[in-house]
Amino acid sequence: MNLHNAISEDVRLGQNVRLSKFINLYGCEVGDESKIGAFVEIQKNAIIGKYCKISSHSFICEGVVIEDNVFIGHGVMFINDTFPRATTAGGGLQTEADWKVEPTFIKKGASIGSGATILSSITIGENAIVGAGSVVTKDVPANAIVAGNPARVLRYVRDAEESSTPNGVPFLDLVAPHIELERELIEAFRKSLRTAAFVGGAVVEEFEGAFADFSNVAHSIAVSSGTDALRFAIMACGVQPGDVVVTVPNTFIATTEAISQAHGIPEFIDIDEHTYNMSPVMLQHFLEKRCVRDKMGKLITLRNGRPVAAIVPVHLYGQMADMDAILDLADQYGLTVIEDACQAHGAEYFSRKLNRWMKAGSMGRAAAFSFYPGKNLGACGEGGAVTTNDPDLAKMVRMLRDHGQVKKYYHDMEGYNGRLDAIQAGILHAKLPHLQTWNAQRRERAAEYRQLFGTNTDLELPFEPSWSKAVYHLFVVRSKDREGLMNHLKEAGIGAAIHYPIPLHLQRAYTVLNYNIGDFPVAEAVSNEIISLPMFPQLTTKQQISVVEETMAFVPSRKCAEVEGIASTPVAMTVRDLSHSPKTYQL
Ligand SMILES: Cc1ncc(COP(=O)(O)O)c(C=O)c1O
Repeated sequence: MNLHNAISEDVRLGQNVRLSKFINLYGCEVGDESKIGAFVEIQKNAIIGKYCKISSHSFICEGVVIEDNVFIGHGVMFINDTFPRATTAGGGLQTEADWKVEPTFIKKGASIGSGATILSSITIGENAIVGAGSVVTKDVPANAIVAGNPARVLRYVRDAEESSTPNGVPFLDLVAPHIELERELIEAFRKSLRTAAFVGGAVVEEFEGAFADFSNVAHSIAVSSGTDALRFAIMACGVQPGDVVVTVPNTFIATTEAISQAHGIPEFIDIDEHTYNMSPVMLQHFLEKRCVRDKMGKLITLRNGRPVAAIVPVHLYGQMADMDAILDLADQYGLTVIEDACQAHGAEYFSRKLNRWMKAGSMGRAAAFSFYPGKNLGACGEGGAVTTNDPDLAKMVRMLRDHGQVKKYYHDMEGYNGRLDAIQAGILHAKLPHLQTWNAQRRERAAEYRQLFGTNTDLELPFEPSWSKAVYHLFVVRSKDREGLMNHLKEAGIGAAIHYPIPLHLQRAYTVLNYNIGDFPVAEAVSNEIISLPMFPQLTTKQQISVVEETMAFVPSRKCAEVEGIASTPVAMTVRDLSHSPKTYQL
């Protein structure tokens, strides 16, 4: 012991440990090359690994195990007792024998900011970062960055930041959100195991209620996939065998599969060249020019003479179609609208007719959502839901998903096995409260991309009209040399994808529908040029910088245009704010 330090003889110090003044160590162990700051106390049985830095005024109590390469900021407080008391039941002061130490583990490479308090029985994962002043009340996953009181996961230290390909960015990170919610998700699984409620039951009903509230509708019926949700919604809306259902060609094949499986016939109309969603102008053109009234006054199409029954607009990439205009045309022609909201959980649309923001899934007669794992709200398996405000339609979907039964073994009709299992419902219910934050983070990431790309790019960025609050299921840009850009990004280790490379009218599966190249020029042009860049809530600015730098390295900049005397486009024009189409809808 020297004049300024109290270091008892039972302290085990490794090689080259650097100790500042006014420290108090007893019964503990400190590994090689570690540094202990002034006024630090380390109690007995605490272990500090190698190459650790413990800053001044920190208190490390018995039961704390700190692995190698850990940084502890100033004044960090550890606690090893959840309910401490001064005295025993007998009235005397408590001694060590009166409490059991609750251990805490700080894993390799973690960093704890100054002034943080770490409650007992906590594990802070490898390389995790705890923000200054945080109060950590539950385990922190490896690589997580947490902050606040109680500390919550903000994002993750990306693997890419440490990997040998420093610019590598995944297209989608499905691991991070699941690590973040691991406890809650396991609890949902455990609840199903303990109650043996695997199909139907309270867990499914609770999720249905919560999802209906989230989507601002009266009913949500959980089913086994987005495809089933669409199929059941189309059937429940009364589409008859041979009826035409109008949709767009630039969607996932599930949209048209569901139409065909409901015994309808898909017919396509072209999309808006800016939003990539159903063009109300083209819908109007289709209804006026490509359909006629038969002798009975029924609207039939000129292509196949079949009656038109319904319209399925797809809220592609997380942005709603121009619903006011579509609903108005549907009203005019007596058609039902079923929203394909499989990519748009929580997306919003400002209805000028209703003068308020409306949620995806609340505007059509019914809507379909997918809970495929990569969706904004994804299960740990398959899942979907139908939403509607119509109680009879909800009842019909419930029957369709469950063998046509109203109660067990009483079948009013033949149905399907299309139920959502209770484990997935529990998982979705645990995730649902986070959806709004995740969607907000996606919007922030989209804004960051816009900021980083600026205006000096020939790349066409997503267009978000003023009447839309998109939830960026995907961030899709357009490039004249899509294949070249795709290869360039692949070589740079940046994940990218195409949604979708071949419009449905040109897919082999639909040769039977007799469409040709050139039938839907906008959808065809778009499908040749689109590329989806990495987009997920935990995407970091650093990763986005890599994506943008690599993209800009390939895509020619606007400078060439400027040399030719064309001024560069201001941001406000890049994010064009077109008025509603068609002509009757102006903001
Ligand atoms: C637009 C669209 N519709 C329907 C579906 C079908 O959903 P699921 O895969 O859950 O059956 C998807 C899923 O990718 C989709 O993106």
